Amino acid sequence: MALSCRNRKDKGVWKVPLFDTTFNVDEVAAVEGVLRSGWLTMGETTKHFEEQFAEFVGVRHAIAVSSGTAALLLANLALGLNRGDEVICASLNFVAGANTILQAGATPVFADILGENNLNISPESIESKISEMTKAIQVLHYGGFPCDMDAIIRIARENGLAVIEDCAHAPGAEYKGKRCGGIGDAGCFSFFSNKNMITGEGGMITTNDDEMAEKLRLLRSHGMTSLTIDRYRGHSFSYDVVIPGLNCRIDEMRSAMGIVQLGRLEDNNRKRESVFDEYRNKLSKVSQLNLPFSKYLNRSSFHIFPVILDKEVEREEFMLFLKSCGIQTSIHYSPVHRFSYYRKKFGYKEKSLPNTENVAKRLVTLPLYPTMSMEDVSFVCDTVFDFFNGKGCCK
Ligand SMILES: Cc1ncc(COP(=O)(O)O)c(C=O)c1O
Repeated sequence: MALSCRNRKDKGVWKVPLFDTTFNVDEVAAVEGVLRSGWLTMGETTKHFEEQFAEFVGVRHAIAVSSGTAALLLANLALGLNRGDEVICASLNFVAGANTILQAGATPVFADILGENNLNISPESIESKISEMTKAIQVLHYGGFPCDMDAIIRIARENGLAVIEDCAHAPGAEYKGKRCGGIGDAGCFSFFSNKNMITGEGGMITTNDDEMAEKLRLLRSHGMTSLTIDRYRGHSFSYDVVIPGLNCRIDEMRSAMGIVQLGRLEDNNRKRESVFDEYRNKLSKVSQLNLPFSKYLNRSSFHIFPVILDKEVEREEFMLFLKSCGIQTSIHYSPVHRFSYYRKKFGYKEKSLPNTENVAKRLVTLPLYPTMSMEDVSFVCDTVFDFFNGKGCCK
């Protein structure tokens, strides 16, 4: 039996929600197995999850953590960023990217996106933001569509910068045959409930750098040289602390769920792709909509379905119309540099990132999840047609 948000007693207000959690009795059995084993915190199950994830991405190391935000924070800390150091990142991103740069003591410097057809960070804009203080580039593979990694890696090499991939949208996505998370110095994944792979809360850092992996493992658990399980097994009585770390550990229940979800990821990504293609076929007829990432050549993980409204369309009216018909929508994202904290702290003026601001005002994300039926896709598309044809809502 499939378990999902939609099986809940309180179904919420939506006929078609933005996302749906999809798991089944396999995840329930895996979590139950952990509970029955009596060992709940990081142990053998987490080790297996990490090994399988590393193999899937094609990297030497995978370090499981408590969230995608923890993954980004630890990756930034592992770079040894200092006060005054700068990290270039996209403003069209979830705020965790910039927040964790600040939390690591450095300064986020926002670069623009490529444009309406490709919402990823622009290599040209990255180059224009490099200063003597720049230490790293953080890239988001927006919606699961890999960034122009050849150009980004070239810029990083030429300027001695590290590259952190935010892969929260991109498990299973590939750039020129390489999985996202295995291209830069570190890849940061989120397993939050609306992602392609879910464990409730949870995340993973991938890297090929042995030294960085060692530092990440220490940072994840207080900088301690042994884990509780090592001491339980009698491998050590004590520990040293070699770095001021945090508690960003995952637990065995989440790791057990992650192993099952990883096994289903590619199938789910293909289902997402079918929904994505169906939307694209139907909505490409709507002249008031621009569908980004058309003619995109690399392999996406199809995390979300963003559309860009024409300038004269009122976004709120569009979203309210869909809402009144029971369709949940969202915005990915409000640009980070325009949030009040960032505006006040860094004084970013309007139009400082023209492509980002032009697109962000008009972006809307439509529902997409692996179990979304083609009838649901048709319902969403028909509702969009009705909006543009000036028809009333609610079927
Ligand atoms: C692009 C992006 N980066 C980072 C994160 C943070 O992940 P988490 O919610 O697991 O902390 C998210 C989560 O929504 C995200 O979408």
